[in-house]
Amino acid sequence: MAIYLNNAATSWPKPEAVPKAMYDFLTRGGANLARGTAAKRDLSTMDMVMCCRENIAKLFDGFHDGDPRYVTFTSNVTESLNVVLKGFLKKGMRVVTSSMEHNASMRPLRRLEQKGVIELSVIECDGEGILHPEDLHSVMKGTPFDLMVFTHASNICGTIQDLPAIASICSEFGVPLVLDSAQTAGLIPISSSEMDLAALCFTGHKGLMGPQGTGGILWRPDFAEKVDWFIEGGTGSFSHLEFQPDMMPDKFEAGTPNLPGIAGLLAATEWLMKESIEKIHTREEQLGSLLLEGLKKLPGIKLAGKMSMEGRLPVFPLNFHGRDHAEVAAHLAEDPGIETRPGLHCAPAAHKTIGTLGDGGAMRISVGYFNTEEEINTCIEGLEKILSMPVEA
Ligand SMILES: Cc1ncc(COP(=O)(O)O)c(C=O)c1O
Repeated sequence: MAIYLNNAATSWPKPEAVPKAMYDFLTRGGANLARGTAAKRDLSTMDMVMCCRENIAKLFDGFHDGDPRYVTFTSNVTESLNVVLKGFLKKGMRVVTSSMEHNASMRPLRRLEQKGVIELSVIECDGEGILHPEDLHSVMKGTPFDLMVFTHASNICGTIQDLPAIASICSEFGVPLVLDSAQTAGLIPISSSEMDLAALCFTGHKGLMGPQGTGGILWRPDFAEKVDWFIEGGTGSFSHLEFQPDMMPDKFEAGTPNLPGIAGLLAATEWLMKESIEKIHTREEQLGSLLLEGLKKLPGIKLAGKMSMEGRLPVFPLNFHGRDHAEVAAHLAEDPGIETRPGLHCAPAAHKTIGTLGDGGAMRISVGYFNTEEEINTCIEGLEKILSMPVEA
C-alpha cells in the first residue's frame, strides 16, 4: 500500500463518514434542491444543504452570528476566487497581492491586468515566503487600493502569513480583504468576522476533508452586495422572473449544485468539529517536526522555506544536489512507495520567491492528519537510500 504524502494537493484518506454520506445521499436521498414538491426527500436535501451552510459559517465564524445565507457553494476555491475577483473588479480598480500566490488568483488577476481592467501590485515576500506587514503598510500608504487578495499559507512551503496584522492594515486603509484559505481551512482556526474578511474563499477537499468538486465563499454581507454574479439561470426560486434574483444565497448559485459533494462536505465538517481543528493542527505539527528534523540530517538535500515548524504547515519543498527532484520523486514512488508531488505546484511566482524556480520547482512532501510516525520514518529512510546511490551520469 502506498504511503500518501501529498496532502497539500488533496487530503487523503477522508474520514469514513464522508464517502458514506455521499453514498447514502445518492442511494436514499438524491432529490434535487428546491426543484420538487415538499416530499420527505425534497426536504431532506434542503435540510442537508442548509446544515452544510451553517457548519461552514460556524467553522469560520461568519458575520451576523454565522448567517448561513452568506455561504455560497462553488466547485473549488479556484471558482470561488474567480467569482469574487471577476464579479467585484471594475475598470480602473487597483489590486494588491503577494508574490506567494497560487495561479488560482494570479491568473485571473494577470488576465484582468492584461485587459486593462485593473492595476496590479505584487508585494515581494522574503526567501521564506513571508509577506512582511510593514511592506504592505508602506505600499498601502502610497496608493489607494480597491482590493487585497492573498493566500493564507503557501502551498509550496507551508509558510503561514500574519493574517491578523494584514487584516488590521486592510481595515486601517478601508481595503476589502479576500482570503485564499485553500491550505489552511480546517487546519488553522480562522475568524472571518474578527478579521473582517470581505470574502473567505475555501476549497472542500483539502484540510476541510470533504470530497473534490466542493468549495465556496463565506461573504461579508455588504461586500456580497457589491459583487456581480456571472452565472445566471434556474435557482429553484423566483421562477416568475426572467432575471437572476439578487437575494442570497441564490444570487451566486444558478444551476443544480454538487449535492453528493455537499453531502460529503457536511459529513466532513461534522467530523472536523468533533475532532477539533486545534487537535488536527497539533498532530500535523508533531508529524511535520519529525519529518523536518529527519530531512535536515540527510546529506544532499536542498530544503527551501522555513527551517523550523514555527509559523508553517508541514509542507516541504525539496531539491537535491546533482539529482533532478522529479526523478527522486519517481524513485520514491516506486520504492518504498511514497506519493509526493514534484514540479511547480501551479505557483511559479511562489517558487521564484523562495528560490526554487531555477530547479523547475521542487519535490513537495505534505503531511496529513492520518499519516503515522512509521510512515514519516519510512519516507526519511527511503530518501536516505536513494541519496546514497551513485548519481547517474
Ligand atoms: C493556495 C492554493 N490556492 C488555490 C488552490 C486551488 O485549489 P482548487 O484546485 O481546489 O481550486 C490551491 C490548490 O492546490 C492552493 O494550494
